[in-house]
Amino acid sequence: MSFPSRRLRRLRTSEKMRELVQQTTLSPKDFICPVFVQEDLKTRVKIESMSEIERLPLDDINDEVGTITDLGIPAIMLFGIPTKKDEAGSSAFDDNGIVQKAIVQIRQNFGDKIVIMADVCLCQFTSTGHCGIVQGDKIDNDTSLGTLAKIAVSQAKAGVDTVSPSAMMDGQVAAIRKALDEEGFKDVSIMSHSAKHRSNFYAPFRDAAECAPKFGDRKTYQVPYTNARESMLEVETDIDEGVDIVMIKPALAYLDLIAETRRRFNIPVAAYSVSGEYAMVKAASQLGYVNEKDITDEILYSIKRAGADMIVTYFAKSASRFLQES
Ligand code: PBG
Repeated sequence: MSFPSRRLRRLRTSEKMRELVQQTTLSPKDFICPVFVQEDLKTRVKIESMSEIERLPLDDINDEVGTITDLGIPAIMLFGIPTKKDEAGSSAFDDNGIVQKAIVQIRQNFGDKIVIMADVCLCQFTSTGHCGIVQGDKIDNDTSLGTLAKIAVSQAKAGVDTVSPSAMMDGQVAAIRKALDEEGFKDVSIMSHSAKHRSNFYAPFRDAAECAPKFGDRKTYQVPYTNARESMLEVETDIDEGVDIVMIKPALAYLDLIAETRRRFNIPVAAYSVSGEYAMVKAASQLGYVNEKDITDEILYSIKRAGADMIVTYFAKSASRFLQES
């Protein structure tokens, strides 16, 4: 009879033994919690395709951020939904815009008890629903850069800690860094959606943020999910342009790219577990096919295991609750 020379089960014998050898950890400190704030809203609005996620009126923002900080989550990611949209996306860089107002209010109430991150993009703010400025039938890269820089500066004036460009325009990090520095915001950091893929997992978000493109799609600017080398080049380019944190988006179907980024670059890596990932878990657990808590735990751990330092996730609050309990 032959015996196994290595018995890996020895370190699985008890709960405490398993705790002792646990390699990957997960904590509320790993999370960035998305917050949707909508202009002119009176009461919270449920987002149909994203169970338990709501759009908030400005008046509810303090409550929401209070809940988030009480759970031990260190950061939020703000998304604004404006009342007025136009071709230039001008409500995105209005100093009195909805995102800017939310930033001012959160800063006043919470000081440095929360890291305020804000999305820098145009699709919620343009009548075209595109992430850049449309000229003719094209999304014009270099015109868009000026606008993205203006958005970042106006958010910085309001008191944002970190701007998070998600428009996938070439040169967006460099343009934003330059504008922030020129305006004296040298300490405002940039977490770029470096490799943001052209993904079908964003569908529920477009419901949430009213930002679906009115014509065409985002294929001319977002990264094809077939091209891993191109994703790495996006990350490398953002690093060359002075980014502080890189992001891979979505997360679950892109764990290989998170791992690859972690191996190749010495920079903090964020993963964005997007709306479709959330909606699938919610739907399956509501049907009783999976256990929501268990499956969420496993998904978030795998994103950490792949190498993410932080995760933007719609599970931030619910996962923090169960992590605090365990
Ligand atoms: C828009 C934006 C999108 C998401 C974040 N910012 C949607 C898109 O590119 O169409 C998706 C986030 C999610 O699905 O959770 N710039």
